[in-house]
Amino acid sequence: MTSQYRVNYHLRAHKRDNLIEFIKGMLLTPFVLRASPNSSQGGPAEYSEIFEQLETLINQHRQLADQNLASHSQLSRLVPGIGTFFTSLPLRQAFARSDQHQGISGRRHVPPSFNDVRRILNTAQVMAISEQLELVTFDGDMTLYQDGMNFEKDSELTKQLIGLLERGVKVAIVTAAGYGEDPLKYEGRLSGLLDGMRAAKLSKEAVEKFWVLGGECNFLFQCNSSYHLQFIPDAEYQSSALRHWSDQDVKPLLDAAEQELLDCVRRMNLQQIKVLRKPRAVGLVPEVQMTREQLDECAISAQRALLRAQSTQTTQPDEAKVPFCAFNGGNDCWVDIGNKLIGVQILQGVLGSRPEATLHVGDQFLSTGNDLATRTACCTCWIINPQETHGILAELEEIMK
Ligand code: IMP
Ligand code: MG
Repeated sequence: MTSQYRVNYHLRAHKRDNLIEFIKGMLLTPFVLRASPNSSQGGPAEYSEIFEQLETLINQHRQLADQNLASHSQLSRLVPGIGTFFTSLPLRQAFARSDQHQGISGRRHVPPSFNDVRRILNTAQVMAISEQLELVTFDGDMTLYQDGMNFEKDSELTKQLIGLLERGVKVAIVTAAGYGEDPLKYEGRLSGLLDGMRAAKLSKEAVEKFWVLGGECNFLFQCNSSYHLQFIPDAEYQSSALRHWSDQDVKPLLDAAEQELLDCVRRMNLQQIKVLRKPRAVGLVPEVQMTREQLDECAISAQRALLRAQSTQTTQPDEAKVPFCAFNGGNDCWVDIGNKLIGVQILQGVLGSRPEATLHVGDQFLSTGNDLATRTACCTCWIINPQETHGILAELEEIMK
């Protein structure tokens, strides 16, 4: 690797997913063979074989991970930083399904793309988890509704979420949006869904399986039989081990975040921007659309500034440090105290759901996103808009039937 290549690679890390890039690379050979005129090579069989090899690599990795030797797996060497697979993934079968619907292997000019691979991984994950599914957690913005909008009345997702609840699967929304302990603002944003549940006369038993966790992991609500959200005080569940911070602990972090975001505004000469401070978050909120590059710059600057602040302000061991999440929200940038890893772990504790039976669906899985943290606690599906959430839930429904 030349040093220029290395610099380029590292500076683009926030735009890449190493596993997806690796799979894309593997699929390039059959694509090139297929693309040559009159070639009889390349095509569904070759692609399938690659997905089968990937399944084997993942299974080997899982076996070694069970013995605490994940870093010795071949997959770890091929894909640095590879995480945990809580289930095996039927990638060959998932590819066959995607190929049937999207004709991937029939293409001669456009190779299998990032989005093709992302969707195949999603399908495989849904296939693998369907039999044992206990809990589905959803991100809010861009997963269930458009950025900054409310859950739409008559959204096609309403029926699907009700269907999951009626089957006995617990459903939770784990969102960065934090409005404190008052349920009214959350109810306002979710009114389309709550009204849909009321109209469907969803039973008490089913509706009580619906939860909302706001501010990444800070404010927990359960739906009651009148289709309203009810705040669950911290003392009623075991959050203390996971959420151990006090106002005093978070102040220096929020100060550092605020300073850094203001510095970004100055450095990039950003106009019409507000920097907001909440008890557990600092946000940079523009009145005009910022570019993705500007928002990524803010998120990465904040991530680094907070790590710096933590290393200079305290000598605590890593596990005692206050966890945070600095992310590009698509139209804004936020630094939150806590993260969705803790959010999912709290729900798993409260609802008794195992990692291999928990699925998080979200849109922000790059290193500047706030759904990435959940990968340490559960299985995930990476969607890019509410239509894709609908698609993945339709697949799940079909498989579960
Ligand atoms: P999520 O995609 O559901 O996690 O929501 C992320 C979005 O929530 C952000 O992009 C913001 O627009 C919005 N938001 C509102 N309040 C907060 C907050 O306190 N922290 C982070 N995001 C917030
Ligand atoms: Mg989102």
